[in-house]
Amino acid sequence: MLILGIETSCDETAVGILEIKKNQVKILSNLVYSQAKIHQKYGGVVPEVAARKHVETILPLIKLSLEEALVSPTEIDLIAVTRGPGLVTSLLVGVETAKSLAYVWQKPLVGVNHLAGHLYSSELGLNRLELRPINFPALGLIVSGGHTELVLMKSHQDYRVIGQTIDDAAGEAFDKAAKLLGLNYPGGPEISRLAKAGDPSAFDLPRPMIKSKDFNFSFSGLKTAVLYKIKNDRLNIKNQQIRSDFCAAIEAAITDVLVEKTIRAAKIFGVKTILLGGGVSANEHLRELLNFRASAELSRIKILLPEIGLSTDNGLVIALAGYYVILNRESGIKNQELRIRENNWRKIKVDPNLEL
Ligand code: KG4
Ligand code: ZN
Repeated sequence: MLILGIETSCDETAVGILEIKKNQVKILSNLVYSQAKIHQKYGGVVPEVAARKHVETILPLIKLSLEEALVSPTEIDLIAVTRGPGLVTSLLVGVETAKSLAYVWQKPLVGVNHLAGHLYSSELGLNRLELRPINFPALGLIVSGGHTELVLMKSHQDYRVIGQTIDDAAGEAFDKAAKLLGLNYPGGPEISRLAKAGDPSAFDLPRPMIKSKDFNFSFSGLKTAVLYKIKNDRLNIKNQQIRSDFCAAIEAAITDVLVEKTIRAAKIFGVKTILLGGGVSANEHLRELLNFRASAELSRIKILLPEIGLSTDNGLVIALAGYYVILNRESGIKNQELRIRENNWRKIKVDPNLEL
């Protein structure tokens, strides 16, 4: 089946077309228009600006995507669109566009949870023709700009959130620390780039809640600690080595907590697979630490990490998550059945606080 995935929950306008036959998968198109440069001068995403840019970009991107995939609208079997969580005005652009297309093209439409897209991102490969199977029960660590969640999955679509951040998300912690250091938005990639030349032990930063028995996270204290170090200790952040050391220490503080809680949850729930997803999953140190600790402490565990190109927001993972929504509903897909529900676009609504 051919699935068109549309993503506009934050500051990326993204469209992907996937062809899935059983567990054989072909990426026909993957277009991402990032607005990061536009928001850089404001130091973060401005919702009004993001929505306007999505409006300008979404239709040309869908047109381009169909052309690149050599697919005509009549051949599309399903449209999948992110309906939450995210910025409401950004979400509305994607959802209303998808509804219009579903109406005009007479196609079924599914509303997808953005976080499910991130959870499934490691199943796909940019140059692989199969989906990497998940062995259940599985544990997903979602680390993005807005979310930090540990999710237990007994099967596809069966999500139980066992822990989440009580304040800032992991990506937000990277972004806020970067802002304090005068680095560009988004700060995560900047910090991780500078951290490569740094020594994390040069600074002692807190690991909030690392010892708490639950699986929740807290990162706002880290931001305060970073601020105090810069202001009170008069850190010379213009000095290249000091800046790199400080970035390495920030990266280590965030990733230590994430990995510690993930490993502990994996042990307690006896999971067979750990899935990593969300923009922060592009962080090399996080990937290495998770792999290292999992192979040292957990036996027969499968670690699925998304390819770097699929870590951040894109339309392909939304198409894939949409596929699992349909698969679960129908347990076996027939295009004929899908066409019957061509009018279902009326029911799809955005929800900026949508939970898994
Ligand atoms: O999933 P995503 O693309 O958008 C949201 O759904 O939020 O995640 C964006 C977040 C930003 O906070 C960004 O700083 C962070 O992912 N990020 C990184 C890296 N690449 C992106 N954080 C740390 N290291 C990276 N290499
Ligand atoms: Zn995301």
